[in-house]
Amino acid sequence: MKKKYESPVIQKMNGGLMNKFGTRTEYEPVKQIDGVSVHTLMEEYGSPLFVLSERTLRRNYQDAYRAFSTRYPHIQFAWSYKTNYLNAVCRVFHQEGSWAEVVSGFEYRKALGNGVPGHKIIFNGPEKTNEELKLAAENNSLIHIDHFDEMYQLLSIAGELSKKPRVAIRVNMDTGVYPVWDRFGFNYENGQAFDALKKIVASGKMELTGLHCHIGTYMLSTEAYRIAVKKLGDLAWKCKTELNNPLQYLDIGGGFPSTNTLRGSFLPGTDTVPSVDEFAEAIRAQLQELGYGAGEMPLLILESGRVMVDDAGYLLSTVIANKRLSDGRRATILDAGVNVLFTSFWYDHAISPAQDFTHHTEDQVMYGPLCMNIDVVRQSANLPLLNRGDRVVVHKVGAYNMTQWMQFIHMRPNVVLIDEEGKAHLVREAETLEYIEQQERVPAHLQTINI
Ligand SMILES: Cc1ncc(COP(=O)(O)O)c(C=O)c1O
Repeated sequence: MKKKYESPVIQKMNGGLMNKFGTRTEYEPVKQIDGVSVHTLMEEYGSPLFVLSERTLRRNYQDAYRAFSTRYPHIQFAWSYKTNYLNAVCRVFHQEGSWAEVVSGFEYRKALGNGVPGHKIIFNGPEKTNEELKLAAENNSLIHIDHFDEMYQLLSIAGELSKKPRVAIRVNMDTGVYPVWDRFGFNYENGQAFDALKKIVASGKMELTGLHCHIGTYMLSTEAYRIAVKKLGDLAWKCKTELNNPLQYLDIGGGFPSTNTLRGSFLPGTDTVPSVDEFAEAIRAQLQELGYGAGEMPLLILESGRVMVDDAGYLLSTVIANKRLSDGRRATILDAGVNVLFTSFWYDHAISPAQDFTHHTEDQVMYGPLCMNIDVVRQSANLPLLNRGDRVVVHKVGAYNMTQWMQFIHMRPNVVLIDEEGKAHLVREAETLEYIEQQERVPAHLQTINI
């Protein structure tokens, strides 16, 4: 085959960008996902295309479950819906045994629709309407109160309920990781959290069942979890001894990092993030210090999101063009941008060509298709010279993209799940103009135009 001509270019060397591994490209062509050809998937389902690996979803769950269940007798995972609430994904985790963790009435109803029994739904978040609180209370869901106004809201509707709502409070605290995530829940250090607990118990109108925290996301410190467990444990102990209200569970939220690389990091995420086992070990060690007897250890609930789903998601995309910027840098334009890949704002997602390539590589900026300056998928990636029509695989995109994607300029693409037998299933259809416009109304006086 005739080789493609690449015009020579004089390039400014940018100092300070090399790392100790030199500029060697890390990238191998990725031609298949779980044994299914990338080319065939894109022929069949179009470009761009999200692909999810059911095998990886299940393996991630099972690995995390093993890490905790081998260390502590009483554990439960609850799937964080906002991380990826495609029903197919939720159901994989529910089949594995996860409860649901939701943060809105919309997510709550989605969990019910997926068949999750009400008493296995954890209702978090700062906004819950009266109707949603009533529904959750009647269903015996675990309502995690976020602020005093919500506590009073719940008390004001308590008379209309046939049973006492089962509640916990969300607690925020200093875990040594800054800035402290204190916008949700009641603060531990200033006594607000224990004050809230006293009010709940004194009201006699709610069943205080547990404590919740979610100390941050993409956490790199296992020590932060040890501190969180210590502080929640301290509150739980006071509930038992001072309020005579022993608690059934401690919910320590999510936050374990996936192996994605944070934007601008020196070393890749695979080398820097602690493993789930390391987090589990820190948490176990502290749980055992809490002073509970063998039979009375509280249930430990985990709401892990990104660590479960990130590396199970791929975004397949096609090169639209390449060009030289005025400073000589090469730019590659993809048909998938920040509209579908929100996480490119904080991750340097690995990108692999999906076909063979020559040994020439160059640092290049990867743009998406939007006519907007913000649409940068990678500021700088050392990749082979990609040409129009070439395909790429963007890695570890399973968390937060299929929920935070925007219908901006382009419509959202197909999503496919590859099952454990290697069969591809369409789990969300690409949007159409009709789908988007069915929500719009054009007033009568704007029905006709004359240009
Ligand atoms: C309350 C709560 N639980 C769990 C999660 C999942 O977090 P992560 O994806 O960091 O594990 C989130 C995400 O923001 C959350 O707000």
